[in-house]
Amino acid sequence: MKGCDIKDPSLAEAGETRIEWASREMPVLRLIRKRFERERPLKGVPISGCLHITTETANLAFTLKAGGAELALCASNPLSTQDDVAAALAKAGIPVYAIKGEDEKTYYEHIRAALDHRPQITLDDGADLVATIHKERSELAFQMMGGTEETTTGVIRLRSLEKQGKLLYPLIAVNDAETKHFFDNRYGTGQSTIDGITRATNILWAGKRVVVLGYGWCGRGIALRARGLGAQVIVVEVDPIKALEAVMDGYQVMSSREAARLGDIFITVTGDINALDKDHFGLMKDGAILANSGHFNVEINIPALEAMSKKKRRLRPFVDEYTLEDGRRLYLLGEGRLINLAAAEGHPSAVMDMSFANQALSVEYLVKNGKHLPHKVHSVPREIDREVGRLKLLSMGIQIDALTVEQQSYLQSWELGT
Ligand SMILES: NC(=O)c1ccc[n+]([C@@H]2O[C@H](COP(=O)([O-])OP(=O)(O)OC[C@H]3O[C@@H](n4cnc5c(N)ncnc54)[C@H](O)[C@@H]3O)[C@@H](O)[C@H]2O)c1
Repeated sequence: MKGCDIKDPSLAEAGETRIEWASREMPVLRLIRKRFERERPLKGVPISGCLHITTETANLAFTLKAGGAELALCASNPLSTQDDVAAALAKAGIPVYAIKGEDEKTYYEHIRAALDHRPQITLDDGADLVATIHKERSELAFQMMGGTEETTTGVIRLRSLEKQGKLLYPLIAVNDAETKHFFDNRYGTGQSTIDGITRATNILWAGKRVVVLGYGWCGRGIALRARGLGAQVIVVEVDPIKALEAVMDGYQVMSSREAARLGDIFITVTGDINALDKDHFGLMKDGAILANSGHFNVEINIPALEAMSKKKRRLRPFVDEYTLEDGRRLYLLGEGRLINLAAAEGHPSAVMDMSFANQALSVEYLVKNGKHLPHKVHSVPREIDREVGRLKLLSMGIQIDALTVEQQSYLQSWELGT
């Protein structure tokens, strides 16, 4: 375990059995791993990954290792690490720098430790690794074949670097693959956010007024699952088309100030800063619960909440009670960090199967092609995206039709009409 910084190596065995359990639901990644074992397409390539250290990530790590990669890992969030998984990865010979609950200083020290591995490929979830390379370690960019980015917020940060002409090497936006965000962001975040809030609070959802801020891929999933449990769902949006979609999907849509007065539970998934702010806290009911499932802990203005409160106490793990000057109590879950990973286990393995199949195949693509790609944010190649979808269906035992030759030619023609 040389070179690791983890909580407790003795947790390794517990981690190993949970990783094995997750693998049962990851058939596409298993197939890729088998091929990688035979072909060794990543032989000798140093890779640093800044990812949530979960059972699913461990399965990705073993797949990359089977392909011959020399991998080092650090956490992509201070609260999302599963310490038993970190121990199991370290036992398997993968340098890991991740401890659940690490402070911000340690978090960045761990990122730097993963970069000391001198990667030729980076894997990111939120772009903290890439941002650190650009801010502090730009010399590493010259040897880079490329990198991948897992989430919406990370892709937004990379596009901003690209727009300013500052991107130092090519990056693949795994988030933008259809087999990623259609399923991971929607059904994964949908289910696991509800799971995280339930585990943290043990609340009954039926009859609650749940305010979902942001009706993007994640927001759609959360609204759908909250409604399925009997909650009355209110959606808050800034995009008129998404707001209209929410109306036609049958939700109440209103301004954030209006919703602030009504909600029992507020869930932010905007990728934006201060979606819930001082004004909103001023209007909320006594007992309102606040949770975030967006990537960074900036969506709820916690400094403002702290400043408005005369008392704060921890009632149970992941539940902090803030008492405001007028005596109202607001409950912040998981310190405003993504609640599905802070208080639960993150996405179910079955959706991460597709996200991480895209990751593994994108890494293989970068090893083959990265040196020739322009320094831009690239899409996952369409063939990879479709192949992941095809393999997932196959693993579920579902067959679909193929276009006939006649249909193919009809769909490419313009001559036939009425
Ligand atoms: N918790 C997880 O496991 C997980 C998984 C995937 C993505 N994410 C993160 O969740 C966030 C959302 O991702 P997404 O894929 O749904 O993004 P998205 O772009 O599809 O949706 C975000 C939505 O929020 C809306 N919005 C922006 N600012 C707003 C504001 N101030 N008030 C109300 N609405 C606002 C946008 O108009 C957009 O419709 C990102 O930070 C992403 O990285 C988290």
